[in-house]
Amino acid sequence: MRMAVFNQKGGVGKTTTVLNLAAALARDSAPALLVDLDPQAHLSAVHGKALGEAHNSVFALYQDNRPLDDLAVAWDGVGRLIPAHAELIKVDSIFGKGPAILNRLSIGLQALEAAGGEDTVLIDCCPFLGVLSLNAIFAADRMLIPVSSDYLSLRGALQIEHTLKALEPVLKRRIERRYLLTRFDRRRKMSFDIQERMRRQFGAELCETVISENVAIAEAPAMSLDIFSHHPTSRGAQDYMALMGELRAARFI
Ligand SMILES: Nc1ncnc2c1ncn2[C@@H]1O[C@H](COP(=O)(O)OP(=O)(O)O)[C@@H](O)[C@H]1O
Ligand SMILES: [Mg+2]
Repeated sequence: MRMAVFNQKGGVGKTTTVLNLAAALARDSAPALLVDLDPQAHLSAVHGKALGEAHNSVFALYQDNRPLDDLAVAWDGVGRLIPAHAELIKVDSIFGKGPAILNRLSIGLQALEAAGGEDTVLIDCCPFLGVLSLNAIFAADRMLIPVSSDYLSLRGALQIEHTLKALEPVLKRRIERRYLLTRFDRRRKMSFDIQERMRRQFGAELCETVISENVAIAEAPAMSLDIFSHHPTSRGAQDYMALMGELRAARFI
């Protein structure tokens, strides 16, 4: 199972969700492989020791066709990570947009899986739809779209739906997807209003679980920690554990 965590909007909780969903999976004895496909490399920065040379990052998959297994680094309590590097910003301009490049991640993951790699791959996408995000979409068999609980994000979600519908004929398959409300603030009527509108728009494709706005979630990365290592009894930890349970029960993950 390969899941791309995507949204063209930044700051909606993509990276946070990849990290904490992986940590929840690891606690459920199903550690995942994480791929940081964002030139901003935020996920790799949280790891603490994964940021290094471009040739040891996922950039090397594009530059030299390096096997992903050589690039993966261990992440205690989370799984394994293939780090990003700022050079990734050049992938669009250097390597073009041909099928060989668009399918590079998919083929890389096939090789890794054939060699006995993780069953679950989570891809942290960058906030724009270029060659890198297309790599994630082409490689993934499903997509998780975090949407923060505000009106502009709701608009963004409708735009993504439009984009995915346009991509489906190209891929010749339906993109299995779930929308996830993040940064949900129960004190605000707006959060419930957005939830209601999302439910009307996306029906069963909206996760039942919402991720609360929770200070422990925001604090944890500064200590290179996932939410369960930082504050296991926090609301954020409960929410991400519930999300993992919901997605596993639905065989989405
Ligand atoms: N549920 C949450 N509660 C509080 N802060 C959050 C939550 N989710 C994300 N954040 C914070 O919001 C910022 C953006 O989140 P991030 O996961 O990096 O978004 P993206 O990857 O979509 O750009 C980060 O500082 C993160 O710690
Ligand atoms: Mg991010």
